[in-house]
Amino acid sequence: MAQRALTGIKPTGEPHLGNWLGAIQPALGLARDYETYYFIADYHALTSVHSGDALRGYVRSISAAYLAFGLDPKRSAFYRQSDVPEIFELSWILSCFTPKGFMNRAHAYKDFVARNQKAEKDDDADINMGLFGYPVLMAADILMFNADIVPVGADQKQHVEFARDIAEKFNRNYGEDVFRLPEPRISESVKTITGLDGRKMSKSYDNTIPLFLDEKPLLKRINQIVTNSQAPEEPKNPDESHVFALHQLLLEAGEEKALRAQYQAGGMGWGAAKKLFFEALNEKLKGPRAEYNRLLADPGYLDAVLAEGKDRARATAVPFLEKIRGLVGVR
Ligand code: ADP
Ligand code: TRP
Repeated sequence: MAQRALTGIKPTGEPHLGNWLGAIQPALGLARDYETYYFIADYHALTSVHSGDALRGYVRSISAAYLAFGLDPKRSAFYRQSDVPEIFELSWILSCFTPKGFMNRAHAYKDFVARNQKAEKDDDADINMGLFGYPVLMAADILMFNADIVPVGADQKQHVEFARDIAEKFNRNYGEDVFRLPEPRISESVKTITGLDGRKMSKSYDNTIPLFLDEKPLLKRINQIVTNSQAPEEPKNPDESHVFALHQLLLEAGEEKALRAQYQAGGMGWGAAKKLFFEALNEKLKGPRAEYNRLLADPGYLDAVLAEGKDRARATAVPFLEKIRGLVGVR
């Protein structure tokens, strides 16, 4: 049987260049070798997005983004988490096999507590139960479809390990290999992409390059990349430039070498360097941008794609949950 890869995408903002190169591109690459499951983790997003319109909007934009970058819904299962209610029932069942200590030790939760402590607030200030129990829902996402590998960023590795541990406890208790044991897949080659100010590109820092801006606002955004105050004629060190750091992500080795030489030769001001980066990026984004805009203008099509994904996901989830209900004794 083909190995299964499954990954969830949290709709919490408009997709940016870091999301594309760090998550979308590597995830879509798996469809060549694996049976792939991609889903929009809207109930995970609800732990932090508390506006209905905002959540609806992010679900649309992130779905359209994956399709625009080439997700083929015929080949991969592509669905919305909330469309598969069986996942939530499984989440409760799994929570009854999850030591509370796992959640106490979860890095994401601990980071929140640490931030509260730093701000001299109560440890649990602004931490809802959804956030605390987040890894159990994630385990249900993964185990429901018996994923073999789960491609995630390094920050999510521990959550996949919890899913594996929970699956083992469940299997051991009922004396059956009900769940396959998932492995996290951290793509080592994916670097952290830096933002306009040289820190990690992240919507939390407002330093992103959104993927689907029209040309004019895209150039305007690129012009905001922070540079030093060297004059145009001065030679520039590419390894100290935030513009170069971003531009080189789009280049083959030979092209990178040529651009490096251009920086070092002097005679190119920051405005010109940014313009070059803009042209390279715009070339790559032109096609996906047109497709993205087309998809957003056709909500019926997006709905139909997600409805098909829902049927496909539930065709697996419904009978599997029925089996689990029987095992635990509620049927
Ligand atoms: P943000 O930091 O903007 O909130 P998310 O946490 O929603 O982004 O990230 C969604 C996905 O995109 C994750 O898989 C994450 O690993 C990837 N990603 C986000 N920012 C970057 C970045 N700067 N470099 C590489 N990958 C990134
Ligand atoms: N927690 C993941 C993130 O923050 C998103 C996610 C939810 C996920 N469920 C998943 C990823 C299942 C992989 C498998 O990015």
